[in-house]
Amino acid sequence: MAVSNHEGVESTKTQNNKTTESQAAKSALEKLAVNSYSFESAFSVLKKRQQYFRISTGAKSLDEILGGGIEPSAITEFYGEFRTGKTQICLQLAVHTVMSKELGGLDGKVIYIDTEATFRPERLLQMAKRYTLTDVLENIYVGRPQSVKEQMQLVQELNDIKPDENVKLLVLDSLTSHFRAEYIGTPQLLERQQLLNKHMSDLLKLALNKNIAVVVTNQVISNFLTNDKLAVQAVGGHIVAHASTHRLELSRPYSQPSQKPFLNAKLVDSPNLPEATAYYEITAFGIEDIKSKINPKLLQEIQKQKH
Ligand SMILES: Nc1ncnc2c1ncn2[C@@H]1O[C@H](COP(=O)(O)OP(=O)(O)OP(=O)(O)O)[C@@H](O)[C@H]1O
Ligand SMILES: [Mg+2]
Repeated sequence: MAVSNHEGVESTKTQNNKTTESQAAKSALEKLAVNSYSFESAFSVLKKRQQYFRISTGAKSLDEILGGGIEPSAITEFYGEFRTGKTQICLQLAVHTVMSKELGGLDGKVIYIDTEATFRPERLLQMAKRYTLTDVLENIYVGRPQSVKEQMQLVQELNDIKPDENVKLLVLDSLTSHFRAEYIGTPQLLERQQLLNKHMSDLLKLALNKNIAVVVTNQVISNFLTNDKLAVQAVGGHIVAHASTHRLELSRPYSQPSQKPFLNAKLVDSPNLPEATAYYEITAFGIEDIKSKINPKLLQEIQKQKH
């Protein structure tokens, strides 16, 4: 108990005791942050994050809403209806990962898990022409699991990756197709969700332990809202929503037949980035910013459609 004199000042002895106690407490914490398996100082986390690489999506507007591109040690999820560019974005990211540093790439390797049989090396070669590259296929390794079991096993095998193998990107296109095909209807929903939870947890551990950028695509289901509007919902419900670090909803807004179709990506969830929308198009060269300016009136209409 603190002993105070008549002016309310604690005795020197008590003060000294307190200082020693707080020093001991501080050094115990510091020790934890340096030596412990589970703690590190926030400053050290920031330092690491500042050194993270970024993978460009090919469109500046999309990179911007992602804080400079796809980041490692995290799961980034792209979900949306068919032909909204999910696979094209994955292929584009693969090209940027293997590209040389001089050209803005990472000189890295890519693991590409293709569950929908839509991986196309010839499309990669076409995208590479944008940078006058010809040799992008060497460092992209493709896996084609044919079931949930094989898919989960493949991801677990990736724990053997060594840092000098220089793997920077893991693509999973798509995360959910096998789960949807094998676990049908309400009776199997609980088991499906439990397995998805385990799978997402394995993916996150891999991203963190190997400092890899994990990118997954996800399918959607459509639901009619009470006002007869159609709303899309990503497959996997809360499990996938919670486990993904950054989530982007891709859509193809309605455009007049005379207008060139374009697409939009909305960052709907992120631990450090605000909600934002980017516009892009798919061309022979891959994912690109929209060159022709979008009519502001049309943009307004799109915003209305989405709410
Ligand atoms: N070489 C190309 N040049 C221009 N556009 C292309 C080219 N190849 C594909 N596309 C366009 O990309 C779109 C398909 O995009 P993508 O395959 O990424 O869709 P997705 O969102 O993955 O769909 P799904 O849910 O069916 O897998 C199509 O509209 C197609 O016209
Ligand atoms: Mg696809």
